[in-house]
Amino acid sequence: MNVMNFRLLTAGAAGVLVLAGAANTVEAASSSSDSLRALGAQVQLRIGTAASPLDLSDPTLSQITAGQFSVLTPENEMKWQVVEPQQGTFDWTGADNLVHFAEMHEQRVRGHTLVWHNQLPNWLTQGVASGAISNSQLRDLLHRHITTEVRRFRGRIWQWDVVNEMLTDSNPSQINPNDFWVSHLGPGVIADAFRWARAADRTALLCYNDYNIAGEDGSNAKFDAAFSMVQNILAQGVPIDCVGDQGHLDLQYGFNPGVMTQDLQQYASLGLKVAITEADVRTFVETTDSKQTPIVSPTDSTPSHTADPAAADWYNGMLQSCLTVQACISFTVWGFDDSESWVPGTFHGEGDADLYDVNLNPKPQYTALQQTLSLAAGAPNRLGRNENH
Ligand code: XIL
Repeated sequence: MNVMNFRLLTAGAAGVLVLAGAANTVEAASSSSDSLRALGAQVQLRIGTAASPLDLSDPTLSQITAGQFSVLTPENEMKWQVVEPQQGTFDWTGADNLVHFAEMHEQRVRGHTLVWHNQLPNWLTQGVASGAISNSQLRDLLHRHITTEVRRFRGRIWQWDVVNEMLTDSNPSQINPNDFWVSHLGPGVIADAFRWARAADRTALLCYNDYNIAGEDGSNAKFDAAFSMVQNILAQGVPIDCVGDQGHLDLQYGFNPGVMTQDLQQYASLGLKVAITEADVRTFVETTDSKQTPIVSPTDSTPSHTADPAAADWYNGMLQSCLTVQACISFTVWGFDDSESWVPGTFHGEGDADLYDVNLNPKPQYTALQQTLSLAAGAPNRLGRNENH
């Protein structure tokens, strides 16, 4: 891109901001023309983050949540464990707050997630384990869960992660016969879930969401399994609109953005939208002494190591893959700052996975995305896309 184009582009972004500001003063206060959301808007790509309740209430965090992102995913607040902690007793507080926050800040929402083996309520898993809940009752409970939740937010959710993580990590990969839902209800539960979701909201885009399904496993085995699963259910007339690749990368493994691009394009060739739904790039950060005691904890505010430039490259690679594929409608990071990341609690000794450090300073990972989005405005194939259908 030449300098002249770049100037025009910057002026254009400022113009957009003035309009947005007229409609919503909160927006004007917290967003700027070089924010990720403003730069993404120029190339019709929504940039999102997972958000926790703190991200919506803390003054500094909420300013970043609103200012940088144009789509939000509740990190946990729409999961079954949270919305129905006791059977028949619902708690929509967190989910309602997130949807309200999003609407206040002209953001869209990715609903997450309806059918997953994790974060199920105890009453459900214990009832199944003890035999108190039969398989046919379980099927009814799932149907009711999907219907209740999707109806509650009908018309206010852009994309729903209807089914999450149902494939094995083996090579070849397949629908996991040991998955909680598949083992009790059979693989047909996937098609059922999409049909039930569509019946409850005709407008939301319905997605299959998983990790390592865009080449991250090296062999592309999980992509093959996801592709054929999606192809099969499409052939049965199942209402599925999109595939979400989570994009949880780890610097100890490989990453090939060329393969990711090809894989996303393959899903798109089936007529589906695609999205990067949970991007982060983790690495080992914890140093241990001879007694295996951490010398620097992952939440210590002093960075314990020199940042590896590969992390910024890999974030960028995922974003570029999404930008290259016209059907890619959103690029979402799984939280934006290292102090709140799920990584240290899940992957021992790992961290440094996010765009901002623990003091909320933007890292090179942030700057890389910002720069790529600025430059992408020169790519004509991003124009004229319809992000809805
Ligand atoms: C994680 C959350 O970030 C954590 O706070 C929670 O304890 C466990 O779940 N794939 C998904 C997300 O689809 O829902 C997960 O989120 C991360 C992996």
